[in-house]
Amino acid sequence: MILGTGIDVVEVGRIAKAIERWGEQFLNHVFTKEEIAYARKHRYPHQHFAARFAAKEAVLKAFGDNAHISWKDISIMNDKYGRPVCHYRKKTFKNKILISLSHTQNYAVASAIITP
Ligand SMILES: CC(C)(COP(=O)(O)OP(=O)(O)OC[C@H]1O[C@@H](n2cnc3c(N)ncnc32)[C@H](O)[C@@H]1OP(=O)(O)O)[C@@H](O)C(=O)NCCC(=O)NCCS
Repeated sequence: MILGTGIDVVEVGRIAKAIERWGEQFLNHVFTKEEIAYARKHRYPHQHFAARFAAKEAVLKAFGDNAHISWKDISIMNDKYGRPVCHYRKKTFKNKILISLSHTQNYAVASAIITP
C-alpha cells in the first residue's frame, strides 16, 4: 500500500550558489552532519547535496501540506549497496519512506514513497 508519494527536481547550480553564498550556515541548516560528510567524500559534492535537497522536498510532498517537518528531520544516507535510505527522526513515525535518487552535472531528482 502506498500512503503518499512525492517527487522533486533541483538544479545543482542553485545549490552550488547557495553553498557559495551562505557556506556552512546553509549546509548546517539544511543537511545533517552525516549527509554533509557523505557528500564531501565524493568528487562532485554539489550533486549529492542537490539530490538530498530534492529528496527532502519529495518527502514533504509525500506527507502532504500539513506536515510540520524541518530540513534536518529527514536524513538521506546509503546502505552498503549504495541504495539511499531515509531516516525520519520523529519517534512516533512507524512507516517507511522509500527514496530513489539520480543526479547529473546539472540536475538532481528524487522520489519518495511512504509505505506502512
Ligand atoms: C546504482 C546505479 C544504477 C546508479 O546509477 P548512476 O547512473 O551511476 O547514478 P545516478 O546519478 O542515476 O544515481 C546515483 C544515486 O543512485 C543511488 N544508488 C546508488 N547505488 C544504488 C543501488 N544499488 N540501488 C539503488 N540506488 C542506488 C544513490 O542514491 C546515488 O546517489 P547518492 O550517492 O547521492 O546517494 C549504478 O551505480 C549501478 O550500480 N549500476 C549497476 C548497473 C547494472 O547492474 N545494470 C544492469 C542493468 S539494469
